[in-house]
Amino acid sequence: MNFEQELEHRVTEIEAVLKSYLPAEEGNPQAGCTETDWAKTVITAMNYSVNVGGKRLRPLLMLETYRLFGGVSDVIKPFMAAIEMIHTYSLVHDDLPAMDNDEYRRGKKTTWVVYGETMAILAGDGLLNYAFETALKVFEMPGSDAAKSAKALSILAKKAGIYGMIGGQTADIEAENLGDNVTLEHLLYIHEHKTAALIQAAMMIGAVLAGANDAQISLVEKAAYEIGVAFQIQDDILDVTSNLETLGKPVGSDAKNQKTTYVTIKGIDAATQEQRAMSDHAIEQLQSLEKEGFQNDFLTELVRSLITRVK
Ligand code: IPE
Ligand code: IPE
Ligand code: MG
Ligand code: MG
Ligand code: MG
Repeated sequence: MNFEQELEHRVTEIEAVLKSYLPAEEGNPQAGCTETDWAKTVITAMNYSVNVGGKRLRPLLMLETYRLFGGVSDVIKPFMAAIEMIHTYSLVHDDLPAMDNDEYRRGKKTTWVVYGETMAILAGDGLLNYAFETALKVFEMPGSDAAKSAKALSILAKKAGIYGMIGGQTADIEAENLGDNVTLEHLLYIHEHKTAALIQAAMMIGAVLAGANDAQISLVEKAAYEIGVAFQIQDDILDVTSNLETLGKPVGSDAKNQKTTYVTIKGIDAATQEQRAMSDHAIEQLQSLEKEGFQNDFLTELVRSLITRVK
């Protein structure tokens, strides 16, 4: 199998894991309200948001980093589902009229367009909370290690929160309309937090659950920083150069919202060169683990493929 076929195969496996953890579209049986189904709408909106598609990059990176350090057990699965739920909630809220005001995501109408703004807010809340309900299932799994699982949960919580993704989204929104006052340093803070933080969480959790040591976890955190910032730079570029059909979301969203991006500060050519250099350096860092006996060529190829991704 070539890389593309292998990727498709692994994404299909991830979709199955995700599906197995999504909530049933019914009321809460424990509370005895199966007949009334009063929570069904929010659950349906949550599942719509996850099931419409997406690259599943974060669970992929998590699983492949787990494999890099020799992980083979199912304990990674609830965390793979949890990170995709958190990522999806961030997109559901990011698309709301109060934020980026976008009507397409993953090739379909955004959650707020289909279910209304109120239900989209609740579906985002629901996905965030259900992510932790899901990750906590690790403690019921045979062979799970309580200390490693707790460390993984703490990474997930922190990187998704005010010192991670939520902090980055806050800075992103406040930077709108600042024009030339947004410095490169400010923009790097935004990219590191709104995007790289969840990519760091994905890869670090894979490393932690597979038993990597502190130095290795720290190397993964640094490599994932570069992978994440490079990923967001490419997202900024595609917002200018792509189209709705290929991207599955509207282009020109950043210009519409007066965002400062890598493209507005540096131009497309310099932005492209920088994202390539960051990705190359991240790959070098990951490959430096080979001398310790840790190698995953599929992970390296995956990171390399992000440099020229078109969606
Ligand atoms: C979109 O993430 C938001 C960013 C952080 C740029 P993805 O490009 O991974 O979106 P999906 O999951 O494939 O839809
Ligand atoms: C959002 O960045 C990153 C999130 C945390 C959701 P963007 O606003 O650029 O993401 P897209 O382009 O809408 O996917
Ligand atoms: Mg945004
Ligand atoms: Mg957006
Ligand atoms: Mg974008």
